[in-house]
Amino acid sequence: MMLLAFDDEALLARGLAAALGWPMALVQRHRFPDGETRLRLPPALPARVVLLRGLQDPNAKLTELLLAAAGARELGARHLTLVSPYLAYMRQDIEFSPGEVVSQRHLGRLLAAAFDAVVTVDPHLHRVATLDEVLPGRRGLALSAAPLLGAHVARHLPGALLLAPDEEAGQWVRAAAQAHGLDYAVCHKQRHGDHEVDVALPGTSVAGRAVVLLDDVASTGRTLAAAARGARAGGAASVDVAVTHALFVGDALAQVRAAGVRQVWSSDCVPHASNAVSVVPVLAAALQSLEELAR
Ligand code: R5P
Repeated sequence: MMLLAFDDEALLARGLAAALGWPMALVQRHRFPDGETRLRLPPALPARVVLLRGLQDPNAKLTELLLAAAGARELGARHLTLVSPYLAYMRQDIEFSPGEVVSQRHLGRLLAAAFDAVVTVDPHLHRVATLDEVLPGRRGLALSAAPLLGAHVARHLPGALLLAPDEEAGQWVRAAAQAHGLDYAVCHKQRHGDHEVDVALPGTSVAGRAVVLLDDVASTGRTLAAAARGARAGGAASVDVAVTHALFVGDALAQVRAAGVRQVWSSDCVPHASNAVSVVPVLAAALQSLEELAR
């Protein structure tokens, strides 16, 4: 076994390799002046290789990922697993308007052609039930950071009310709340554009409660900001945030703070200053059980 990773995810990779007791190597990259990249892998790879690559900033990373996978096969990897703690393009899962490319389906096919198995965390599966449906003929494993985030909230704010900013986040809020005996409720969201979001609070009163907004992804932060404003207006004693994937692009964090959010906690699926819980044990256990199945 060997774990391969890229330098910008070395921290997560080292933690994972240590938890599994596997050797680890970094993919060496050289960026040519014209924007192309030269990759260098360890020249002799074992038969089973796990490649760690989160797909935040996906367009820049996908070419490298597919080249690295093809190169790994040539260098001896017969079974290749992708661990992508954040799997991009999962939200574009239907043709929202005529002619629109269903990116989830096509990215799934590309990954299925390159890898034997794909492990990820809280993929945004809304209209499909399982990751296997996205990866035709391959093994897909969707893990969740929601119970870890729930444990973190329960430790820091016992008695908190977990709030899903939209119906799609209901699954994660339920999982986090039920695992730790917390109350939860689900808001209703309407998105009008990339940065225009309305969130209506549920019937449950938030007055005087320590509210924690829990979602899978924070991208522009507008969803969390709208929900936070609603919770503040409803009289919440405090509003904190817990997310699996801390993308926080552009002014997202500033928007969230301006909406009255106190603390932002995230998992380390995406390296970010807000990382507060580690998915290493969950990833390690999943990889261990995949290996046991393969024996
Ligand atoms: C979508 O439904 C997701 O669960 C998130 O709520 C969404 O991606 C967050 O996006 P943004 O931070 O741009 O509002």
